[in-house]
Amino acid sequence: MARDTTGPEELNVLADIEGSVATVTINRPDKRNALNGATRTQFMEAVDRLQANEAVRVVVVTGAGETAFVAGADVAEFADRTPMEQLSVMKRRTVYQAVEAFPKPVIAAINGYCLGTGCELAMACDIRIAADSAKLGQPEVKLGIMPGGGGTQRLPRLVGMGRALKLLLTGDIISAQEALAIGLVDEVVAASELTRRVRELAERIAQRSPVAVRLIKQAVRASARMPLGEGLRLETSLFGLAFASQDKAEGIAAFLEKRTPDFKGR
Ligand code: COA
Repeated sequence: MARDTTGPEELNVLADIEGSVATVTINRPDKRNALNGATRTQFMEAVDRLQANEAVRVVVVTGAGETAFVAGADVAEFADRTPMEQLSVMKRRTVYQAVEAFPKPVIAAINGYCLGTGCELAMACDIRIAADSAKLGQPEVKLGIMPGGGGTQRLPRLVGMGRALKLLLTGDIISAQEALAIGLVDEVVAASELTRRVRELAERIAQRSPVAVRLIKQAVRASARMPLGEGLRLETSLFGLAFASQDKAEGIAAFLEKRTPDFKGR
């Protein structure tokens, strides 16, 4: 396993590469992995490096330790910030945009508290697998603020308007099982099994055609911001790109020759 370090400063984010799967770990366990400015910057730098690394086909995002995925934005940073300072931070590129626009699949391995910004980060990921011990919610309303990382937009798209409003207006924290029941997470596994299960899923995706995987993510992501007709036209265009790829030639040939395809991502 290779560690892709983020530089000389404090390592709030660790990136480990093993084969074609990279794991990005938010590493502030003593603060329940709360996202402060430095951590956000390091996260985006790590993600950008992984984008450029052709050997990496799938990225897993998780939190260090056994207690938290990410327990929210670093509330201490909010105390003395003016509204203008806060807005200027939020108008910069965000971790959510970095994950959603990332051309390879990103899986959230939710290993504990997944609150506020943490829940928003998980929602920006493509697939969410939670430990049975995980707790999720958008508690901002209890702090006199509101979600600012997409919580009011991505949550209703994932779970429906009523369920989203119930969570957002109460700030209630729910269990992994409840999150599964409403579609906020896609699978729940025993905490001891989380790493193994996520790795197995990531490796399965990593064996597929990187070209097709990238185009599928692009098409599905686009569906959230387009009417059906436009989305179907985009799908046809992207299908044309997939059809022109070397991966398509390899995939079809491998099927006809009854062998496992060796996709190169070209
Ligand atoms: N921002 C800043 N610091 C945080 C934090 C956050 N979102 N979440 C936890 N921490 C810090 C605590 O202040 C504490 O720091 P300290 O040891 O220097 O006092 C440390 O992490 C451990 O937290 P603690 O509350 O003692 O742990 P716990 O296991 O008893 O409880 C939580 C965990 C997640 C339930 C609790 O920390 C919490 O409610 N956090 C805030 C959640 C939140 O409102 N998030 C949305 C923010 S917009």
